[in-house]
Amino acid sequence: MSALSVDHLLGIKYLKKTDIELIFDTADHFKEVINRSIKKVPTLRDITIANIFFENSTRTKLSFELAEKRLSADIINFSAGQSSVKKGETLIDTVNNILSMKVDMVVLRHPNPGAGIFLAKHVKAAIVNAGDGAHEHPTQALLDTYSIREKLGKVTGKNVLIVGDILHSRVALSNIFALQLLGANVMVCGPKTLLPKYIEALGVAVETNLKKGLEWCDVANMLRVQNERMEVSYFPTTREYAQQFGLNKRLLQELGKEIVIMHPGPINRGVEITSDVADSGQSIILEQVENGVAIRMAVIYLLASKIK
Ligand code: CP
Repeated sequence: MSALSVDHLLGIKYLKKTDIELIFDTADHFKEVINRSIKKVPTLRDITIANIFFENSTRTKLSFELAEKRLSADIINFSAGQSSVKKGETLIDTVNNILSMKVDMVVLRHPNPGAGIFLAKHVKAAIVNAGDGAHEHPTQALLDTYSIREKLGKVTGKNVLIVGDILHSRVALSNIFALQLLGANVMVCGPKTLLPKYIEALGVAVETNLKKGLEWCDVANMLRVQNERMEVSYFPTTREYAQQFGLNKRLLQELGKEIVIMHPGPINRGVEITSDVADSGQSIILEQVENGVAIRMAVIYLLASKIK
């Protein structure tokens, strides 16, 4: 197979295993490119991409922008805070106005779940979901699973623990779908209040004791507590959350085995993970960010191939 089965990247839910394998193979090539002295290829000189961000972002926004520049695409950047959205313009009007400037692809981050799916039905451009509320963050899951494959040689058969605020996490849902497609075993761990009621229906194991989860896993992906999505308190205090669900050096040393530590960022140091763990040799947090550029180059390249 040399083409994706989809015309948009709206979520991992819509991908096949072969799509992920194609993205990984393509990312392998681009990772080699971005480690050369000349880190750029002329492949997408005829493509224009709009990065439309209605929510804050550091890693995803910069990573997409760099991926597009490495592929020689023309790009425009839109941040809702400085736009006519503040004057009441709708999402469709905003995007259609941007597309009338001859834009081929939209990378969209939006606080509302399904924003990309809605847009893909109403505008003529390839849509890449860069995070839609608490729904999906497909490129994060792709770079996470790619990083596991790089570190452990394969994803199939590995035990992956996702810890923390599962309820509000688009990273968790996309990771669950991607890990299962690739044949990993998935367990989620967190306070009961931050575990969605339907979670077991997704075929994942559930644990509320972090030590037990860590004893089971090969990889622990520590998620951020998403205070910005909480209207009420889901645990007594941040200190108690850190005591029960925070990963620290003592817990790791007690395991008697080496596990791989991941975090999608941004990190709340001292809450879900202590600095000595985040910055340790077991952590692949910065490798995840590095791999994000190659993964996003692969996604953009493969989607652009379908509109050329
Ligand atoms: N991991 C992630 O999505 O980070 P940003 O919000 O900084 O893009």
